[in-house]
This record gives sequence, C-alpha cells and structure tokens, in this order.
Amino acid sequence: MVKSRLTAVCLIALAFGVSSLLTSVDAKITKGDTRAAQTKYLMRGIVKPNCGGLGGLLKEGPKTDEEWDTAACYASCLSEMGHALMDDKRCPDGVWAGACKSLREGSDAALAAIEKKDLDGANAGFKTAASSCAACHKAHKK
Ligand code: HEC
Repeated sequence: MVKSRLTAVCLIALAFGVSSLLTSVDAKITKGDTRAAQTKYLMRGIVKPNCGGLGGLLKEGPKTDEEWDTAACYASCLSEMGHALMDDKRCPDGVWAGACKSLREGSDAALAAIEKKDLDGANAGFKTAASSCAACHKAHKK
C-alpha cells in the first residue's frame, strides 16, 4: 500500500520534471535566454534574405567587383548567424549544433572563395551552408 503510493508520487514527480524540461527546451528554440530577438525574426530578417541573395548571385556568378563584394556581405552575415544561433542558450541539442556548424563552415568556405573570385568554390561552400536549413528545420521547425 505504502509502496504503491510512493511509486505514484515518484511517477507524478517524474512527469512534472519531464514536462518542465520539454518547456524549457522549446523556449530555447523560439527565443534565446536573455536577448529579445525571436528565432523566427532572425530567420525572416537575416538568414533568409542573405541565403536567397547569395544563392541568386552565385547562380550566374557575380559580374562586377561590386557584386562580388555583395556576395561577400551575404556570406559574412550567414556565417555570423551560425554563431548567433548558438549563443544565449538557444541550442537545444546536437542536431541544432551540427546545423549551425554547417552554416558557419559553409559560409566561411564560400567567403574565402568569393575573396578569390572562385565561383565553383563559392558554390560548394554555399551548398554546405544551405544544407543546414533543412537539417535544422526537419528537427526543430514546427
Ligand atoms: C540551427 C537551426 C536552424 C538553422 C540552421 C536554420 N533555421 Fe530557419 N528556422 C529555425 C527554427 C527553429 C524556425 C522556427 C522558428 C519559430 O517559428 O519560432 C525557423 C524558421 C525559419 C523561417 C520562417 C520564419 C518566419 O517568418 O516565421 C525561414 C524563412 C527560415 N527559417 C529560413 C532558413 C534558411 C533559409 C536557413 C538556411 C540558410 C535556415 N532557416 C537555417 C531554425 C533554423
């Protein structure tokens, strides 16, 4: 009798523990711990336009010095987002961390190639960076 009551208490405590853990993990996905910006606004305002801009320029290849410079700007902003999305306790797990690593490393490789006006290298780096979108969204975007 006493034993089964104790078991029930333990199960309830466990259920509370698990649900509060899930809530805090979810909170980190939609927003960081202390900073104001929500993840969806970082995506809409920074990640998406820089990804679209870079992909668009690299399709045909930048034609002028100014366009190469713009490509470098897009790649730089994407790289920085690969860092920012790891800050402020945003990262909930290894999938998220791995996607941020692909975003950073792909953007950095693209940037290095852009600085040499190497279009194939830039596209290879961009492909790695762009693979991060689906990898993270599949696990974390509702
Ligand atoms: C480390 C994880 C992660 C990576 C990498 C990532 N995203 Fe996201 N993205 C999310 C999450 C989480 C949401 C949903 C946020 C929410 O609705 O609270 C989201 C939402 C979005 C949205 C919808 C924003 C809105 O207006 O609601 C767009 C667009 C988007 N991502 C584009 C991209 C693109 C393009 C890339 C790749 C260059 C990318 N994301 C990479 C996690 C990621």
